[in-house]
Amino acid sequence: MSGHGAPVPMISRACGALSGMAEVPGDKSISHRALILGALCVGETRISGLLEGQDVLDTARAMRAFGAGVTDHGGGNWSVRGVGVGGFCEPDQVIDCGNSGTGVRLIMGAMATCPITATFSGDASLNGRPMARVTDPLALFGARAVGRSGGRLPMTVVGADDPVPVRYVVPVPSAQVKSAVLLAGLNALGETVVVEREATRDHTERMLAGFGATITVEDSDEGRVITLTGQPELRPQEIAVPRDPSSAAFPVCAALIVPGSDVLVPGIGLNPTRAGLFTTLIEMGADLSYENMREEGGEPVADLRARYSPDMVGIEVPPARAASMIDEYPILSVVAANARGQTMMRGVKELRVKESDRIEAMATGLRANGVPVEDGPDWWSVNGQGAGGVAGGAICASHLDHRIAMSFLILGMASQAPVSVDDGGPISTSFPIFEPLMARLGAALERQVS
Ligand code: S3P
Repeated sequence: MSGHGAPVPMISRACGALSGMAEVPGDKSISHRALILGALCVGETRISGLLEGQDVLDTARAMRAFGAGVTDHGGGNWSVRGVGVGGFCEPDQVIDCGNSGTGVRLIMGAMATCPITATFSGDASLNGRPMARVTDPLALFGARAVGRSGGRLPMTVVGADDPVPVRYVVPVPSAQVKSAVLLAGLNALGETVVVEREATRDHTERMLAGFGATITVEDSDEGRVITLTGQPELRPQEIAVPRDPSSAAFPVCAALIVPGSDVLVPGIGLNPTRAGLFTTLIEMGADLSYENMREEGGEPVADLRARYSPDMVGIEVPPARAASMIDEYPILSVVAANARGQTMMRGVKELRVKESDRIEAMATGLRANGVPVEDGPDWWSVNGQGAGGVAGGAICASHLDHRIAMSFLILGMASQAPVSVDDGGPISTSFPIFEPLMARLGAALERQVS
């Protein structure tokens, strides 16, 4: 399990042009949801293109512990035999969610309105992350939770015996909180209403509708109002998971900063609640194009072509776009380091409570590699060094955070001196084929013997 093994030090050096096709794995957010909703319907859901990263494998194991039949048929094809809404059984072991905030928060939501008790734990990163944002609204349904100080894991959740539906205004822009409340609302008779002031990724809403739940979404002065009717009979689905735009971001951004590159990333999910990075890159002057736009399994999909873009400039990223690119700020900061001028990123307080404090982790590593960075509680700015202008040469801490590790390895591909990370192990949580995929494109990545 990630974070439980020995560290995997890695180094990345400047390389020749990156070229070819980058077939990145399935979407992490959609993969978690496919397993959890598959476990909550009656009958067999078939999933193709499931992300087989550790985060999702931990969710698959958790669904088995709650009574679902989860089968790996090979090649990303999985099936889930569900137990029906409200049908979770009580696990006889602690549920270990590894590194995954999405996994633990969504599963807590799904079990909180079942008359069972479950204890959750994770790695050092997950055990440090705030859970009250989920357990507070789950308490409104009648669930109780006891964890460590600061609302941290390990934590035991006692599900409500007689759940009541709730109306909840989500206080932070978080798809995990919204989704936990909706999944809890599934087993509460009546209408559960979730209001979000800023739109966050809407995969849960789309997938619930696909599984046959009655769910409506309206825009109001208060924000997006989502209304779910409880105790539906969910119907099994065939789900084709699109490739993950958050993983695509790494080869795409590498191609933009490595001289001469031309990379095609096919079949990327381009749900507008996820695509903010690509809009931002185009505003910075990136040579990025969408080809073959289409819809697959209820999600917009396209092929993305990225070419070396030596004339990118820093911009002010609109804070209203933050939720649609929240996982992409680390790799954006690497592109910003290779652009001319300052890139300002505001309204990003949530970055401080991800797998790591991502502002702190990136700012420290970028500075060590010769890139000036300023930061405050909910903003940071990167002073671009221009194409090929980053000195490099530092060893960066990845803090058990896959996206921090991958971002610094991409930085090394365009820096004057190699860039190292202390631990590339966490990459397997979301992008288990990162190393061979980047090597096939022409990157010079190596594991180091510690
Ligand atoms: C996710 C939501 C986001 C994101 C995470 C995946 C999801 O987290 O950072 O990687 O699948 O719902 P928050 O809900 O904390 O913003």
